[in-house]
Amino acid sequence: MIPLVDLSLPKNVKGLIKREVEKVIDSKSYILGEQLGIFEKKFARFIGAKFAIGVGNGTDAIRLALRALGISQKDKVLTVALTSPFTVIAIIEEGAIPVFCDVDERTWTIDVADIAKKIDKKTKAIIPVHLFGNPCNMIEIMKIAKIYKLKVIEDACQAHGATIANRKVGTFSDVAAFSFYPTKNLGAMGDAGAIITNNKNVADLVKLLRHGGQTKRFWHKFKGVNSRLDEIQAAVLSVKLEYLEKENKKRKKLAKRYQKGLQGLPIYFQKAISGGKSAHHLFVVRTPKRDALKHFLLEKNIISDVYYPYPIYRQTLFAKYSKENLTVTEELTRELLALPFFPSLTIKQQDYVTKMVRSFFKTQI
Ligand SMILES: Cc1ncc(COP(=O)(O)O)c(C=O)c1O
Repeated sequence: MIPLVDLSLPKNVKGLIKREVEKVIDSKSYILGEQLGIFEKKFARFIGAKFAIGVGNGTDAIRLALRALGISQKDKVLTVALTSPFTVIAIIEEGAIPVFCDVDERTWTIDVADIAKKIDKKTKAIIPVHLFGNPCNMIEIMKIAKIYKLKVIEDACQAHGATIANRKVGTFSDVAAFSFYPTKNLGAMGDAGAIITNNKNVADLVKLLRHGGQTKRFWHKFKGVNSRLDEIQAAVLSVKLEYLEKENKKRKKLAKRYQKGLQGLPIYFQKAISGGKSAHHLFVVRTPKRDALKHFLLEKNIISDVYYPYPIYRQTLFAKYSKENLTVTEELTRELLALPFFPSLTIKQQDYVTKMVRSFFKTQI
C-alpha cells in the first residue's frame, strides 16, 4: 500500500526527539516552561515575525486571533467554504458570522474579486486560507482590508514556509494562525498551534487569553480559554523545525516531479499567484473523474483522499450561513483529489502512482 501520508521519522531525528522529550520529563515542568519560550522564539524567527505565541491547536489560534482583534458577536467574517471546517468552527465559536467568498479557479484560494462584493457594514474581518500551502493574494487582500478598515487573519495552518516575493506567509496580516497537527509540514506529536504577529499588544493579550485570561495567578481579568502548547510538544517542534526547510524542498521537488509525470493528462494543478511559492502541504489534482480515479487507485494499492468533499455551508452545522455565488467552490469539492505526498515518498513509489494515474486515463478513452 502506498499511503497518502507517512509520518515515519528518520532514525537520527527520532533519536534527537527522544532525547529532548526525556529532558522535559526530567525537568518536571510540563506547561508554560522553558521549552515553549525556546520554540516560540525559533518559530517567530523562522517566519520572520516579532512574536509567536504557542497555543493548543490551530483552531484556537484562529479563535484567539479573532478575540484579540476584538471580533465578536454578530460581526461578519469573510472566508472560504473550501477549507478545513475548523477555520469556520473558530469563527462561530467566537459568536461571529461566517460569510463565504468563492475561490479562484486557478489558485483555489479566496477570490479577491468576490471579497469586495460580499462586504457590508457588519463585516469586520477576512480570514484568507493558504489552501494546501498555496499563498493567497495577500497584497490585494490587504489593500481591500485597508479601504474597508477590516482586520485580516491569515489561516496559515497548511502553509509553514510558503512565501510571496520571498516573504513568508503569516507576516502579511494583523495576526496569522498556524496548526502543528501531526500531518502538517511542521507537525507535533499531538495537537499544537501558534499565533504569529508583529503587534506587541496583540501578542501580550493572546498570552493572557490562552491561559484563562489571568493577569496574575488566580486573577482572571479577560475572558480567556485554556489552550497552551505543552512542553513536550514544544520540544518536539523545536527539533522538527530544524528540518522544515529541507523537507519543504523535498516536497517542492516531488510536486514538480508529479506535475511532469502527469503532463498531458486531462487533469489540472493548483497554480501559484505571481511571486508566490507554495509550501506544498498536499499534492492535489483536479479531474471530473475524481471518484472513479480514487477507486481505481485503491484497487492498485494507492491511497488517495478528498480535500474537501463538502463545501462548508452544505454541512448541517453551517447550513444557515450565506451560500451566494460559490460556483468554483462547488466544482472543486466534486473534482479535487490528493495523491500520496510526503517528504519521504520514494521515486519508485511516486513513479508507480504516476503510472497508475496514467493507466486510469487510458481506460477512460
Ligand atoms: C486550513 C486549516 N485551518 C484550521 C485548521 C485547524 O487546526 P487544528 O487541527 O490544529 O485545530 C486546520 C487543520 O486541521 C487547517 O488545515
